[in-house]
Amino acid sequence: MNKAWWKESVVYQIYPRSFKDSNGDGIGDLGGIIEKLDYLKELGIDVIWLSPVYKSPNDDNGYDISDYQDIMTEFGTMEDFDKLLKKAHDKGIKIMMDLVVNHTSDEHQWFIESRKSIDNEYRDYYLWKKGVDGQPPNNWGSCFSGSAWKYDESTEMYFLHLFSQKQPDLNWENKKVRNEVYDMMKWWLDKGIDGFRMDVINLISKDQQFPDGPKGETSLYGDFGPYSVNGPRVHEFLNEMNRKVLSKYDIMTVGETPGVTTEEAMKYVGNDRNELNMVFQFEHMGLGDGPDGKWSNLSFDLNDLKRIMTKWQKGLENGGWNSLYWNNHDQPRVVSRFGNDKKYWKQSAKMLATCLHMMQGTPYIYQGEEIGMTNVAFESIEEYRDIETINAYNELVNIKGKDSAEMMAAIYGRGRDNARTPVQWDDSENAGFTTDTPWIKVNPNYRQINVKSQLHDQDSIFNYYKKLISIRKKNEIVVYGTYNLILEDHQEIYSYTRTLGDKKLLVICNFTENTPVFNLPEEIKYNSKEFIVGNYTTECAGSIESFELKPYEARVYLLHS
Ligand code: NOJ
Repeated sequence: MNKAWWKESVVYQIYPRSFKDSNGDGIGDLGGIIEKLDYLKELGIDVIWLSPVYKSPNDDNGYDISDYQDIMTEFGTMEDFDKLLKKAHDKGIKIMMDLVVNHTSDEHQWFIESRKSIDNEYRDYYLWKKGVDGQPPNNWGSCFSGSAWKYDESTEMYFLHLFSQKQPDLNWENKKVRNEVYDMMKWWLDKGIDGFRMDVINLISKDQQFPDGPKGETSLYGDFGPYSVNGPRVHEFLNEMNRKVLSKYDIMTVGETPGVTTEEAMKYVGNDRNELNMVFQFEHMGLGDGPDGKWSNLSFDLNDLKRIMTKWQKGLENGGWNSLYWNNHDQPRVVSRFGNDKKYWKQSAKMLATCLHMMQGTPYIYQGEEIGMTNVAFESIEEYRDIETINAYNELVNIKGKDSAEMMAAIYGRGRDNARTPVQWDDSENAGFTTDTPWIKVNPNYRQINVKSQLHDQDSIFNYYKKLISIRKKNEIVVYGTYNLILEDHQEIYSYTRTLGDKKLLVICNFTENTPVFNLPEEIKYNSKEFIVGNYTTECAGSIESFELKPYEARVYLLHS
């Protein structure tokens, strides 16, 4: 297998708005990130993925960019950014920026021009269409509810927005748009940043016929998926981007690609493809989806999770590479979702970390995950800040008549604000995040769950993550070993091996509060074994042929043959 620094790295995602406020305005900022670089160094991560810090009116918290070459006022200045980059580099930490180029903000200069007239030189930077009998050009629904088309009075035409009405989609068919994007990328790379996480990059190419999408029984709108997800020219565009920009720098790239299969993913990340290093797949994040998508919030089955993770591990092992994540700024907290955030909070957070960090791929830790931050349940919808959540509540409850308590329960389970409550630094007011009123409420459990209380506690979740990272650094097998699922149909245990040369890593994770018995499959032969890590302090030196696991127990052994 080809070696690369980005395969050997651990990434930490920062959602700046909720990370740390340094100037007392209730909003996280670049100064706050600078303050906490030593903390990240202590954890042992290699790369920061910085969610958008660009100028933005914040309709979607920075994923609606009005100037790609300026910094959001609330976050600081370009000087602050340069300082952050320099300080991070001095500490050996790289910075990967978010690249949001499927759409801009409607307050971006390009769009302000584009909407002025049909012959404006920026008109074709966006996707404008005439309506049909007073209706939008097709039935596509936006990811944030409602039609994906918005009527604009000045030229009596509709523009496409797959996300909010303030996020018009760029027209990637237009070469000028592509070149503007590439120039902007080069500008950042020449500044010295270390890569890009590319927002919904598999949506940039749309079927130019713009056909109606299929409509489900319960949906008001059609699904744009077949005509925009992994669209007709997406690989051509990424190949061009690679040739003109990416290939000229030693950087790391990860594409956010909802709806991607392993076969399709190989087209984005295959060694011979010259596109991206890795993608974020979403199959495991879709567990529990139902007729109302994620707002159905059904329970998940461990065997589905095993099947999906295994499919990705095996599907990309020859010539591809995986990203590994349980969390990001769009997903609920993993300890609440796949673990048990009450009685077995600590054990299950560590078990989940073990299960993910021992797989093949580049692990991503989302801020607060390393201290086991949990989901939140605000009392009323008014306390939520996320546009997706608020719009979905309006559409499902107010228009389609879903029971409001049921919807609130779904929001508690799957809403994006679960990930966006401020990082809990200590047990002082507002969790030490800010001295002012935070832009979104702090999770009330910050007195029990916070960084300060975990830093010096050797048994803490923080110190466990630190240990997992150092194990990865010391053992090539964790990075490059080949994955194989064992005990395939076990309902409670997720167990797999990683093989490199004559060594095998044996990973055993109990996903329940029961005490199932682990039986080592006969085909696994070894001469000697070494206990590497586990989430219970009890001695693990005994036989591994058959033993009882404790609730949410995780153990990792290195077997020598
Ligand atoms: C995916 C991002 O992760 C999400 O936060 C955002 O709302 C959409 N893309 C639109 O940019």
